[in-house]
Amino acid sequence: MVFKANQASKFNEHEYRDFRSFLEKSCGILLGDNKNYLIDSRLRRIMRDHDIDTLSVLVKKVDRIGRDPLKQKVIDAMTTNETLWFRDRHPFEFFTDTLLGELSESGQPISIWCAASSSGQEPYTISICAEEFKKRNLSKAYRDVSIVATDICTEILEQAKAGVYEMLALNRGMSNDRLNRFFSEHQKGQWKIKPEIQSRVDFRQLNLKESFSTLGRFDVIFCRNVLIYFSSELQNKILRNIHSILKPGGYLFLGGSETPRGLNDFFEVRYYTPGVVYRKK
Ligand SMILES: C[S@@+](CC[C@H](N)C(=O)[O-])C[C@H]1O[C@@H](n2cnc3c(N)ncnc32)[C@H](O)[C@@H]1O
Repeated sequence: MVFKANQASKFNEHEYRDFRSFLEKSCGILLGDNKNYLIDSRLRRIMRDHDIDTLSVLVKKVDRIGRDPLKQKVIDAMTTNETLWFRDRHPFEFFTDTLLGELSESGQPISIWCAASSSGQEPYTISICAEEFKKRNLSKAYRDVSIVATDICTEILEQAKAGVYEMLALNRGMSNDRLNRFFSEHQKGQWKIKPEIQSRVDFRQLNLKESFSTLGRFDVIFCRNVLIYFSSELQNKILRNIHSILKPGGYLFLGGSETPRGLNDFFEVRYYTPGVVYRKK
């Protein structure tokens, strides 16, 4: 690592390295070089509230196995929760127009896992797709859809569970038509997702670095825009674990810049215009 001390830097090289190693060990997130400003801006408030003067004292307090409220606060602060409604659009069009119909043919309920659900936009988008599929097919071909939505960040999970959004967040991908159909006005400037959309989604905390074999078995897994934060070894491990809990022939959606590299024996690519989805072999 090339460590550049600068005037704004509040940490020495040693502290920076220990914090970086704590973060990767506890949640897989890799910090690049010279992210002093990021650590400082995200942890300043926590350190102040807990009377902690240096990064090394903070690391000493949180670098332990198991759950601890301060450790969770630090992890929450270091996650990047950027998300939007119908992100990239085409995966959700393919999901509604093609995949839900195919999966419904089995006659069984459809189980979905949204593996990095952030503030809820992605799992609620999936639930809206299911609702639109249901309406379009006049319930004829519709099978019950249930969605398990997980994230490591406890703070963002609370927001997701509440299902209340400001216009600023809704303006990122939610059309007026869908806003009127699937949300009701909550307070001035805030909208709440309707119960028929919310009730399909079960939010839980889960660290992708840990085992998720007890989560269940899924027809479709959305694991989008989270693997990019991890090392290629961890990505590989998570993708193998995902493979093991997909039902036979189940599907995996990844983010636009993510691929199951080196896992040709596990997944086959299914192309649709203009994207790809990975099918369990
Ligand atoms: C950039 S957001 C992506 C949200 C959504 N999937 C999307 O594509 O819009 C990444 C999410 O991954 C979560 N995350 C980061 N590390 C994680 C881990 N080890 N286990 C589970 N979730 C994690 C973060 O808390 C964050 O909410």
